[in-house]
Amino acid sequence: MAILVTGGLGYIGSHTVVELLNNGFEVVIIDDLSNSEKFILKNIEEITKKKPVFYPFDLKRKELLTQVFDAHKIDGCINFAASKAVGESQLKPIDYYENNLFSLINILQEFKERRLSSFIFSSSCTVYGQADTMPIDENTPLRMPESVYGKTKQMGEEILIDFAKAYHRKISLLRYFNPIGAHPSGKIGELPIGVPNNLVPYVMQTAAGIREKLSIWGNDYDTEDGTAVRDYIYVVDLAKAHVAALQRLMNDPSDETLIDIYNLGTGKGSSVLEVIKAFELANNVTVPYQICERREGDITIAYANPYKAEKELNWKSETSLEEALRTVWQWQKYLESRKV
Ligand code: WQD
Repeated sequence: MAILVTGGLGYIGSHTVVELLNNGFEVVIIDDLSNSEKFILKNIEEITKKKPVFYPFDLKRKELLTQVFDAHKIDGCINFAASKAVGESQLKPIDYYENNLFSLINILQEFKERRLSSFIFSSSCTVYGQADTMPIDENTPLRMPESVYGKTKQMGEEILIDFAKAYHRKISLLRYFNPIGAHPSGKIGELPIGVPNNLVPYVMQTAAGIREKLSIWGNDYDTEDGTAVRDYIYVVDLAKAHVAALQRLMNDPSDETLIDIYNLGTGKGSSVLEVIKAFELANNVTVPYQICERREGDITIAYANPYKAEKELNWKSETSLEEALRTVWQWQKYLESRKV
């Protein structure tokens, strides 16, 4: 069975491709390399000893997408392809709506016409905004996200729910909390292009001396140490949840509509200062930092209730924050070795 993985050379996409190949699926990757690099494909092959098919296509070009569906028997899709920089999305809203939503709709046109089902959507806990109570479960009311990026995730979910209902198809909306870490092989990981937006890649580059010091965006939040709290989930555990969610859709014997929604997190919150401390302890390094003003649009606290995914997907995040942060430093060493 061939699974189409859009954005399959990206951070979460590449780790999911590894798990799909390890589970016997054939994989067809479409990735326009706008936020990923080609060497990741070679490294996926080194890790799995298998070769996914790769097309460097822009999903907004429908004629190219049709070529891929004509050439391969696609049995399901995991859709990662999207622009994802929260700050940039505020400056380029139309680019974000066009890229994130036109790509999704083009794929769904193919799915509709070819009567395909089993579609996994890469969503985000950002659809909850700042929830009133913790932990956040799937019944927590959605809030209008602060960022255009978050809005494209919420709109993407709505489009998929209407698609599933109208055409009786099977979809799974996976709401990630904060993905971190790198593959234990040290050959794939998060490739921040330019200055990292996210915390952990910035911590990594500060420890490596690439950045002078980390700015902690605010220490006046209503949390134990004043810094904001998030649920940091190891990327390989997250990738395994995608395979479990896909298998659940593909194994569903009914012809009925199926709309799965899962919060994918560890169920544990960690503050920015706790992440810094854990990184320093796990890797015996220091991370210089300064306290700065809050970042526009940031929320105080978010961590998941992962019970529904544990029960229905028989999946649980197994990896501790320290273990995940150890893989980050190993990945940084690999990137340095590539430069020599
Ligand atoms: C985490 C915490 C920052 C950088 C976003 C999206 C989410 C997902 C992941 C894409 C916050 C603080 C950060 C820094 C800091 N999207 N921080 N200094 O904002 O929780 O989630 O990225 O994959 O959908 O919403 O993640 O890593 O940017 O921030 O103090 O240099 O670290 O203020 O409290 P976030 P993040």
